[in-house]
Amino acid sequence: MLKNNKCHLNTVSEPTRGSGGGTYKFHFSLICSYLLFFVVPLLACPSSSHSIMGSMKQNQFSDKECSVPCLRCSLGLLDANFFKDDQIDEIAKGVNELNVPIIKANRDLVASKNGGLQYPSPLVFSADWDYKPVHCATKRFIYPSISEIRRPESEEDIAFLTVLELGELIKTKQITSQELTQLFLRRLKKYNPILEAVVTYTEELASKQAKEADELLSQGVYLGPLHGIPYGLKDIISVPEYKTTWGSKSFKNQVIDMEAWIYKRLKSAGAVLVAKLVSGSLAYDDVWFGGRTRNPWNIEEFSTGSSAGPAASTSAGMVPFAIGSETAGSITYPAARCGVTALRPTFGTVGRTGIMSISESLDKLGPFCRSATDCAVVLDIVRGRDPEDPSSKDIPIDDPFLVDITKLTVGYLDDAEMEVVDVLASMGVKMVPFKLNYTVDSVQGILNFTMDVDMLAHFDQWQRSGEDNVYEAQDQWPTELRRARLVPAVDYIQVFYFVPLNS
Ligand SMILES: *[C@@H]1O[C@H](CO)[C@@H](O)[C@H](O)[C@H]1NC(C)=O
Ligand SMILES: *[C@@H]1O[C@H](CO)[C@@H](O)[C@H](O)[C@H]1NC(C)=O
Repeated sequence: MLKNNKCHLNTVSEPTRGSGGGTYKFHFSLICSYLLFFVVPLLACPSSSHSIMGSMKQNQFSDKECSVPCLRCSLGLLDANFFKDDQIDEIAKGVNELNVPIIKANRDLVASKNGGLQYPSPLVFSADWDYKPVHCATKRFIYPSISEIRRPESEEDIAFLTVLELGELIKTKQITSQELTQLFLRRLKKYNPILEAVVTYTEELASKQAKEADELLSQGVYLGPLHGIPYGLKDIISVPEYKTTWGSKSFKNQVIDMEAWIYKRLKSAGAVLVAKLVSGSLAYDDVWFGGRTRNPWNIEEFSTGSSAGPAASTSAGMVPFAIGSETAGSITYPAARCGVTALRPTFGTVGRTGIMSISESLDKLGPFCRSATDCAVVLDIVRGRDPEDPSSKDIPIDDPFLVDITKLTVGYLDDAEMEVVDVLASMGVKMVPFKLNYTVDSVQGILNFTMDVDMLAHFDQWQRSGEDNVYEAQDQWPTELRRARLVPAVDYIQVFYFVPLNS
């Protein structure tokens, strides 16, 4: 811990930022360099005697002279003086190692000239941008027909049928929705003690919805391929009368009495909600207040997150499908780990009313299934404009069951899985290698940066009240979000100008 409680200012000359700046390196060391980015607070530090107003030079602080009390004083000017000493120390280190390089790299790209931020600005929100009205948006895909399916003998074989196959068994009255619902509830309860993938069984609701589905069918009303099909929702999705815990100890008794838009869509398609499945705590990774979700293919391994429950439960045949969400990797990672097929739709495809928000500009909802066909079917049911979510749209999507894949061109990077490339090529897809003119790290840095600030804006009070100290994995959100407290507004806005294009 640094002892000195004074904040000395050493002026060191450095090239000014506007002059093409990309070549020099920061050579001053840890702890204090981030203070560059909020110069104003420093002026109020008790012993800061040198004025830097009007200076054309950048100013630096040598680390030994920069103390925790001084940082605390600076935080006070951001109305954020509530961290413990060791947390302030950790914030300063993290800001230097992670925030500053991202800020610098991005500034070089987007703001190396005065007046350098160019239009079109991503900050000018336009719901109509690039948007052609669609007249046939509500037209459903033409699903492949399943014929001659016979109900398998064993429960296990039934459990691993696809959504379309189960739908056909229901439609042809070889099984009822109530039977199917009980079967999946039994499987959920049987395997959950090992997999730690379920937060809440919605048994009563499921029985009611299954009964309704069976009654409708007996009256000759068939709602389509999800009619009577059980499923699970990631526990950041609100359903009245049941807890919506966001996976977090802090919110584990929370009930949000509203029907999320996606739940409404599935309900009106006749699907039957059997469980609220694990979200890693506050939608980060696979650790939640009740444990840590495992990979059914190897229970020594964890599922990764944060759509941990949807991935593991679908993989183990505990539900025919589930809905998860992704801000940065939370669908793709657990799907890959647990060996299921998931779909992370393009932003805006699926409405998000009633969902815990991390970042309004990044959050997406998507299905976990055991086949690509099922993913297309579920997406078809849930896609489209949500009147309460202005970012959602009736996006025209070509019917995937009618697409001629020999007419598709697919790009791949050097490190792509060549087996996938070869299989697609052998099916007649035109495969084209390409390179990025930016690094994956640089984009991930910008993504982290945006996501963390957005998340903190939603969970400001949680951090201020110290609730983050009881968060399940201290090295995850708590550390990242304390550091996000020190992202300057200027640099936050500049990251929106990074336009990742390929060469
Ligand atoms: C982004 O955040 C993730 C999760 O904390 C971390 O593993 C990764 O290294 C970060 N990337 C960059 C470039 O900062
Ligand atoms: C990457 O390539 C695109 C398209 O050629 C170009 O517009 C963009 O400025 C390039 N970005 C960088 C960082 O070089």
